[in-house]
Amino acid sequence: MTVFVITGASDGIGAEMARQLARTHGAQAALVLAARNQAKLEEVAQQCRAAGAKAEAVMTDVAQEAQCRALVDKAVQAFGRIDALVNNAGVSAQALLSDVRAQDLHWYEDLMRVNFWGAVWCTHAALPHLKESRGNIVAVSSLAGLVGVPGRTAYSATKFAMNGFFEALRAELKHAGVSVTLAYPGVVATQIRYRGYNARGEAAGSSGLKEEGAMSVEECSRRIIAGMVARKREVVMTAKGKLGRFMKLLAPGVVENIALAALKDEVKPH
Ligand SMILES: NC(=O)c1ccc[n+]([C@@H]2O[C@H](COP(=O)([O-])OP(=O)(O)OC[C@H]3O[C@@H](n4cnc5c(N)ncnc54)[C@H](OP(=O)(O)O)[C@@H]3O)[C@@H](O)[C@H]2O)c1
Repeated sequence: MTVFVITGASDGIGAEMARQLARTHGAQAALVLAARNQAKLEEVAQQCRAAGAKAEAVMTDVAQEAQCRALVDKAVQAFGRIDALVNNAGVSAQALLSDVRAQDLHWYEDLMRVNFWGAVWCTHAALPHLKESRGNIVAVSSLAGLVGVPGRTAYSATKFAMNGFFEALRAELKHAGVSVTLAYPGVVATQIRYRGYNARGEAAGSSGLKEEGAMSVEECSRRIIAGMVARKREVVMTAKGKLGRFMKLLAPGVVENIALAALKDEVKPH
């Protein structure tokens, strides 16, 4: 049996990864699903069970270290091992720094607790089990973690932090048999930007990005799973993302212009 722990599994990419793993592995998969919304988590767990897999919904706020440790403990209690940890839970944000009032700036720290610290805490707790199984770690970063995106000073910072942490960890684990796959999705058709913070730290309710041409959540999840199974170092999605990364070294000004062009006019810096 292969035991997968997935954070942010109540919706979007995490939920779809769980469903796809349940379908492909059937009774050979045990899925431990973590997020805050228990009802939605349970719904995803049911979908996984209907596909023949074992599934446990574990209500978890990854912004709380104790809850991350409890998640790992529950996974081991339920299934006796952990083969893969998918650090996927994340929150988005869209605001120009100059539009954020001093009394609201604390949400930058909140975002870091979910996107970065949540992944650190879960990974630290799961590491002895992953070493034992010679398993896989996945970190769902973003193209906004490869290129600084205007309006995303907070979000880009959390994803750059993830990259540094997991790249260093990958080297530490080189001889331990544990793979570390960093996934860099571009724009994927989920609700993340609508739920993400605005300058006041409230749910934005709208997306600041042009959403046409977004990758489907199914395709994104399929690519991340393929990268994990193949123990790839990275999964960089979209040709623009791959090109942008190299162009940043050669012509950073051009990459800034491309990043600005991805914004809707109403959220562009003036
Ligand atoms: N969609 C994109 O275009 C895109 C692009 C690049 C990278 N990504 C990254 O992909 C990952 C998944 O995003 P998505 O698009 O699937 O977003 P989504 O549909 O909004 O799902 C986010 C998931 O994270 C969970 N979550 C949020 N805060 C949490 C917390 N404090 N504790 C535990 N779980 C929490 C949510 O569940 P609850 O609300 O129930 O807690 C939900 O299950 C994120 O890391 C995101 O940054 C997405």
